[in-house]
Amino acid sequence: NWTMESFIDKEINRIRQIVGPNGQVVGAVSGGVDSSVAAKLMKEAIGDRFHAILVDNGVMRLDECQKVKKSLKDHLGINLKVVDASKMFLDRLKGVTDPEKKRKIIGNTFIEVFESEALLIDNEAKESHGKIEYLLQGTLYPDVIESISFKGPSATIKSHHNVGGLLEDMKLKLIEPLRELFKDEVRELGKVLGMNEELIWRHPFPGPGIAIRILGEVTPSQVKIVQAADNIYIEEIKKAGLYRKISQAYAALLPVKAVGVMGDKRTYEQVITLRAVETTDFMTADWFHFPYDVLKTISNRIINEVKGVNRVVYDISSKPPATIEWE
Ligand code: XMP
Repeated sequence: NWTMESFIDKEINRIRQIVGPNGQVVGAVSGGVDSSVAAKLMKEAIGDRFHAILVDNGVMRLDECQKVKKSLKDHLGINLKVVDASKMFLDRLKGVTDPEKKRKIIGNTFIEVFESEALLIDNEAKESHGKIEYLLQGTLYPDVIESISFKGPSATIKSHHNVGGLLEDMKLKLIEPLRELFKDEVRELGKVLGMNEELIWRHPFPGPGIAIRILGEVTPSQVKIVQAADNIYIEEIKKAGLYRKISQAYAALLPVKAVGVMGDKRTYEQVITLRAVETTDFMTADWFHFPYDVLKTISNRIINEVKGVNRVVYDISSKPPATIEWE
């Protein structure tokens, strides 16, 4: 009979057999549930011979890198290296407003940074007669099916995950310990492996990060505004006990200015739009029916606490025809 414990034992043995006694593995982590569970499983199987890499692309949420580092490295004991490449990403995003161009720049830069980090680790490994032979991917069963049967828009959506170059240049082989599991099983697995609830139930977050939630040009000051607003939004959602009911929520920054009034002065500032959806498969989604008082608290806090914003709106569009992200 199938239990999570027997799955873990079997999978750990399988990983050890594949990788061998000296083999080494690299993998990118984001702080999302899939890559985190996959990384924890690798750590259980081969310890520090698994090297996790977290790339700070400058378009993560408020303090996200430190938070992910704390939970993966300090709490779960994963051999993690954080690479701060934020300047490189933000430089390349300068002047870019087209959503697909943003995605391409971030995806390509990510691969470039990850690959050079992996090569560094490989060189270090060689000094102790080891070698990086495998690349970890947190692919789930539905992704396996999708990549076989569906070559639609998701081919672009997931383009930043394309690590084909790495596999060819470094001659790495893929290792995918979650490829037989569904999302709820991955969460269960994470629980058994001692991961905290916050990590296990984290809403999905797109690879291009808040770059696709800043409409128009991505600049450091725009990043700061959306980070602050998003942080308040998620904080209040959690305080209201609604985080698990909502499938995905985020704040986005519109590239328009609105007139407002503060004291006896006229203001002319930007607009934050809030998104929250309920969905099971992310292919269709309904906007979330917020209690008004929660929306009121969120809007008051954002307008009072976030400099540069004088108006907050709530997005009541379903998917389709709207998408979950604005870009
Ligand atoms: P849309 O906006 O297409 O989003 O309704 C559906 C789900 O996919 C996420 N998403 C992305 N994830 N790279 C990603 O890794 C992307 O470029 C990307 N675009 C959208 C989105 O957050 C939602 O969960």
